[in-house]
Amino acid sequence: MAVERTMPGATRVDQARRRNGGFWSARTVAWYQRALARSDYATRVLAAIAPRLAGAASVLDVGAGCGALALPLAARIPQVTALEPAPAMAAALSAEAGKRGFRHLTVVDAAWGEVALPPHDLVLCAHVGELTRSGAPFLGEAARWARRWVVVVRDREAESDKLFFRELYPALLGRSYRGGSDYRETLEGLARLGVHPEIVTVDYRSDQPFADLDEACDFYEVYLGVSGPEARGFLRTFLAARLVREPRGWVAPYAKRAVVLRWPGAVREG
Ligand SMILES: C[S@@+](CC[C@H](N)C(=O)[O-])C[C@H]1O[C@@H](n2cnc3c(N)ncnc32)[C@H](O)[C@@H]1O
Repeated sequence: MAVERTMPGATRVDQARRRNGGFWSARTVAWYQRALARSDYATRVLAAIAPRLAGAASVLDVGAGCGALALPLAARIPQVTALEPAPAMAAALSAEAGKRGFRHLTVVDAAWGEVALPPHDLVLCAHVGELTRSGAPFLGEAARWARRWVVVVRDREAESDKLFFRELYPALLGRSYRGGSDYRETLEGLARLGVHPEIVTVDYRSDQPFADLDEACDFYEVYLGVSGPEARGFLRTFLAARLVREPRGWVAPYAKRAVVLRWPGAVREG
């Protein structure tokens, strides 16, 4: 029988909620969903872990977002728990799960450390930097909630060419774009814990579509944190020259490379 486990770290949770809930609104989530709708992200990542999914009865997706992986997983796994603290993300995921009739997909509106959860066959955490950076408690804790495997997805390289940010940061913010962190910090953190994961690299598209140039300007204003007529004028000219025209709008092309790390779970029951 599954054992409920109390997870440590309530203060960490409050920080996570403040940081993420602030950025994710109905609008930013909708942009994320539209990029996902045309992306091969889930197909590539799930193909990379297919052997680990075989026979799995349950998956805990930590930081599930709007369900990039949780939803396709629910199409093949009998029980999926999606842990997601940002209210707009959790709401979008619940709505989509409802539309698809996925009653076996449970959305838990909480961060890692906030709620008691039972062990699952597989614990998955994709693109949640704060849980998977070196020294993050999650790296040491995750295997205690996994019967079979822990799977972590991180960027392969810091995103130095993300959506033209490398050109837009100096022009609009007066500083260079340094990108995010990448999987090497996860590897370092795991090595300190004596964990040496298997690693697979996956390439996928994460292109961002827009209905028109106005919407593209809105997106970049939000992501860069800029506003005002001067910034808008610059963005409009820049984006008109750089976005790719499609029959139904415009697209910011974005080729991504991620690393899937996996190591054995440590739950022993019975
Ligand atoms: C970049 S999104 C990735 C979503 C999804 N896993 C994917 O691969 O598309 C990161 C998500 O992690 C969530 N998150 C951030 N900190 C978290 C924490 N401490 N516990 C659980 N989820 C967290 C955010 O709210 C956000 O929805």
